[in-house]
Amino acid sequence: MTHVIKCTALIALLLISTGIAAMETVPASESVNLAILISGTGSNMAAILDAIKTKPINGINPCVVISNRKTALGLEKAQERGVPTEYIPKMKEEARDVYCEKLIKCLKKYNVTSKNGLICLAGFMVLLDKNIVQKYKNRILNIHPAHPIENYPGANAIERAFSAGEKEMGATVHFVDEGMDTGKVVMHKSFNVEFTDSLEDVELKMHKVEHEIFPECVKLFAQKRLCIQ
Ligand code: GRF
Repeated sequence: MTHVIKCTALIALLLISTGIAAMETVPASESVNLAILISGTGSNMAAILDAIKTKPINGINPCVVISNRKTALGLEKAQERGVPTEYIPKMKEEARDVYCEKLIKCLKKYNVTSKNGLICLAGFMVLLDKNIVQKYKNRILNIHPAHPIENYPGANAIERAFSAGEKEMGATVHFVDEGMDTGKVVMHKSFNVEFTDSLEDVELKMHKVEHEIFPECVKLFAQKRLCIQ
C-alpha cells in the first residue's frame, strides 16, 4: 500500500522537510488555546489530545471539547483525558447564526479567542456561519474524509467514494471558510483501495491517515508554520 502526502502550494508549510522546527519549543506566551468541536466518536479529537499529551505537539493548551450531541462518545473520551466538555445542542429550527453565537460565547468562556485560539472541527456536523468564520479567520481547521475534497464534499463522503469504485481515496485537512468543505487545503494523505477491501476496511484506512495528518496540522499551526499566502 502506498501513502502519498502532498501539501498544496496555497499554504506555506515552512521548514517541513528539515525536521528542525518539529523539535522547537513554542514559548508559553505564544501558546495556542485549542477548542475541538465534535458530533460523534471523537477518534480524531482523541488523536489530537493524545499527541499533545505525549508531546509530539507542544505550545498548545486543550481548553474545551464542545459537542452538539449529548450522546457523542467523544465527550467521554475528552473527559477521560481531563479536558472540559460542553454540550451545546443545535435545535432543528434554530437559525445557524443564533447557534454560532452560543458557540462564540462558550469559546470566550474558555479563553479561546480570535488572537490566541485554534478551533478544530473533528466530525462536527454543523455548518458554521459567516460571523464565527470571520471572527476566527484562519484559525479554524476541519478534517474531511475525501481527496480531492471537491469530488466528495458533505456527508457520507467515504461511502460515496467507495460506492463509486474509487481506487485511491484520502483525507484532507483544510482551513474553514463559509462554504461546505471548501476552504484552503493544508494537507492531505491518500491510500490505495484494494480490490478486496470492504467499506469497513476503507473506513479503517481512512481513520489511520486522518489520525496522522490532523495532529500534524495542529502541530504546524502551534509552531506558527501555517500561513495563507
Ligand atoms: C471523520 O471521518 C472526519 O473526517 C469526518 O467525520 C469523521 C469523524 O470521526 N469529518 P471521529 O468522530 O473523529 O471518529
